[in-house]
Amino acid sequence: MRTQVGIIGAGPAGLLLSRLLQLRGIDTVVLENRSREYVEARIRAGILEEHTVRTLVDAGVGDRLQREGLPHDGIHLQHPGVRHHLDFPGLCGRKVWVYGQTEVTKDLIRAQLDGGPPLLFGVSDVSPEDVDGDAPRIRFTDADGTPQALECDVVAGTDGFHGVSRPVVAGAGGRTWERTYPYAWLGILADVAPSADELVYAWHPDGFALLSMRSPTVSRLYLQVDPAEEIGNWSDDRIWDGLATRFALDGWELRTGPVTEKSILPMRSFVSAPMRRGRLFLAGDAAHIVPPTGAKGLNLAVADVTLLAEALARLLHEGQPDLVDSYSDRALARVWRCTHFSWWMTSMLHRSGDDFDAELQLSQLRRVCSSEAAARELAENYTGLPLDR
Ligand code: APR
Ligand code: PHB
Repeated sequence: MRTQVGIIGAGPAGLLLSRLLQLRGIDTVVLENRSREYVEARIRAGILEEHTVRTLVDAGVGDRLQREGLPHDGIHLQHPGVRHHLDFPGLCGRKVWVYGQTEVTKDLIRAQLDGGPPLLFGVSDVSPEDVDGDAPRIRFTDADGTPQALECDVVAGTDGFHGVSRPVVAGAGGRTWERTYPYAWLGILADVAPSADELVYAWHPDGFALLSMRSPTVSRLYLQVDPAEEIGNWSDDRIWDGLATRFALDGWELRTGPVTEKSILPMRSFVSAPMRRGRLFLAGDAAHIVPPTGAKGLNLAVADVTLLAEALARLLHEGQPDLVDSYSDRALARVWRCTHFSWWMTSMLHRSGDDFDAELQLSQLRRVCSSEAAARELAENYTGLPLDR
């Protein structure tokens, strides 16, 4: 088998990279070790920055997003007794959209299978080789159990945090940074109309809570728990009671309904540099992880592959290595900006149990809710800084 760009991983990063390269006339093959059903069933975040929406629409995979996505002009920040709305268009001229990452992935897979480049599910034993030369390959076993070798010009490692690509890059040196947070999120999906028009990020003495949504009839909610918590300890009633307590506000009520999915998500920050080794390039969760508080994970993956697609087109069409040579540094600049913002949102909103921390957090929240300058800094980061900044 031969292609120009071999892509490991069919999450949002790999699938969108394949689409962007196809539109630039570059052949790809996407290799995914899970089944289509598994990939499409993963529950992930749901906030898209304006550039992400524009990228998907311009790539011809944004029709359903435009029909079903929910444009949001802001978020609510809450601390006991106060719920304050941040008006994103008024603060920074941008907005965000609510559209599940699961739906983005389904739209990309559908486009890929409908006349797009090869997308192979259920592969195994995937191994990038000879990435230091200009003729790398990916060895793998296909879904039929047949050993294969995919000869490439370039390999893209978009195989997420647990993938095989980052260790290959790290084998040539580099370094990682990691912070594991002393809390986790218990997340639920519920068949009930959201109780607020836009997202509510709430600080509370019992712990953080987030009210989000997937559609006008499906709510997505999270509450801070100890990382060691077992989901079996949390009945639906206990979850709803905890959420109602943390969102409590005079004249407002949290609507409850059937819980259709619940799980506990760990929280970490992770960055690996560089994001390249020879002809192997990392993008998305393969290179970095952010805590979900800043809603950056998917948007950062889109930013990476937007830069990478342009760089690979210049290399493979024009033989110019300048953009691939600067890809890692340019991508990491945004990775660190998003890593800082995600850490800042997480640190401001999650209870550590220390009362000094609590006073600092409440002071920061009051500052953001009362100062246009402080609110603008949050709004600019949350809605996504321009790719060149
Ligand atoms: N071979 C082939 N595919 C692999 C391998 C492997 N060895 N290891 C992992 N994969 C696949 C996973 O099954 C997954 O489908 O790579 C894909 C990686 O996708 P994601 O983990 O979703 O990462 P990414 O595409 O970078 O998207 C980042 O996803 O996890 C969320 O919060 C994250 O929103 C962010 C987004
Ligand atoms: C979600 O809807 O899943 C979501 C929204 C905002 C976040 C994190 C998750 O910050």
